[in-house]
Amino acid sequence: MTRINRREALCAAFAGAGALLAANPSRAVALALPNPDDPAMVDGVEAWKYVEIDPQSVANQAYDDYHIGHCMHTVFKAIVDHVAAALEKSDPLAARTMRAFPFHMFHYGASGGNGIGSLCGALNGALAAINLFVSNEKTRKAISTDLIRFYERTLLPEYEPADSDGKPFPKTISNSVLCHISSGKWCELAQVKSGSPERSERCTRLAADVARKTAELLNLNLAGLNAADVAPVVTFKPTEPTATCVACHDKGGDTGNIIGKMTCTECHSDKTPDHHEK
Ligand code: HEC
Ligand code: HEC
Repeated sequence: MTRINRREALCAAFAGAGALLAANPSRAVALALPNPDDPAMVDGVEAWKYVEIDPQSVANQAYDDYHIGHCMHTVFKAIVDHVAAALEKSDPLAARTMRAFPFHMFHYGASGGNGIGSLCGALNGALAAINLFVSNEKTRKAISTDLIRFYERTLLPEYEPADSDGKPFPKTISNSVLCHISSGKWCELAQVKSGSPERSERCTRLAADVARKTAELLNLNLAGLNAADVAPVVTFKPTEPTATCVACHDKGGDTGNIIGKMTCTECHSDKTPDHHEK
């Protein structure tokens, strides 16, 4: 197989036609094929290069641009745009390729996937970005799990927009990654409807929080703290009883009859093995 370098693979993987032609008009057609072996890696190097970005600036963009394509779109784009801007001088082709990403595809994540209230779109966009930039599976999963637990267990939203009037903004611990549960709990606390501007503002701030946290985790990973052979930086450890439920019920467990690591007791009563026997 002919080996191609990272630049060529970057072009080949996902670049828009404009970027391809600008890069190398004569080879544009040949390079327009994705690397079938592993589009994430080229000669042991991440094809989609991550560089350090400013988490607060990422959060600000996610907040400011939320109206363009909602939660998933804004989180993913804020992260990729920042990486592209950081690469502008050292690797303009990589920067241009990132800017040519078909971001519009992430409109689907709004309101938990086409409005069905499933996985929170902010998380969905963040997980997509983590998967774009981190090719090592173990590391990717460690970062993703930490982000998910942050989302479930933190009093959110934390983000304060620059023009905020300083009034306290309602915050909830979602205990769930589902848009349905997460937004529903917040609406109940805030005493507003799900179609209200207040609920939109909450999700805009939440998207900023998730974007910031993701940039922080990716920066830590870049600093080598999450390398495959080093214990991942895990801030949020598994909690009980979910960890015990998962050990039996999830894939690979003795019972092994479900797939999932969401907080079980959000929907099921606290079923210890003893309860099961009754
Ligand atoms: C030691 C292993 C073990 C642990 C720990 C465990 N379960 Fe189970 N669970 C079982 C087995 C075995 C069954 C019966 C499976 C069957 O009937 O096919 C069961 C059944 C269930 C069922 C089916 C309905 C019912 O009442 O029988 C639910 C729901 C469930 N478990 C949830 C949980 C939750 C939530 C936790 C954690 C709080 C948990 N389980 C912890 C082994 C376990
Ligand atoms: C968002 C709500 C929700 C969460 C979170 C959730 N479940 Fe469930 N679970 C359900 C529903 C709904 C069903 C299907 C209805 C039923 O069988 O009662 C189900 C079914 C199950 C069953 C099969 C029950 C049966 O009758 O055989 C098991 C076992 C189970 N869940 C365990 C878990 C464990 C363990 C966790 C945590 C890792 C978990 N669930 C998290 C909602 C949830």
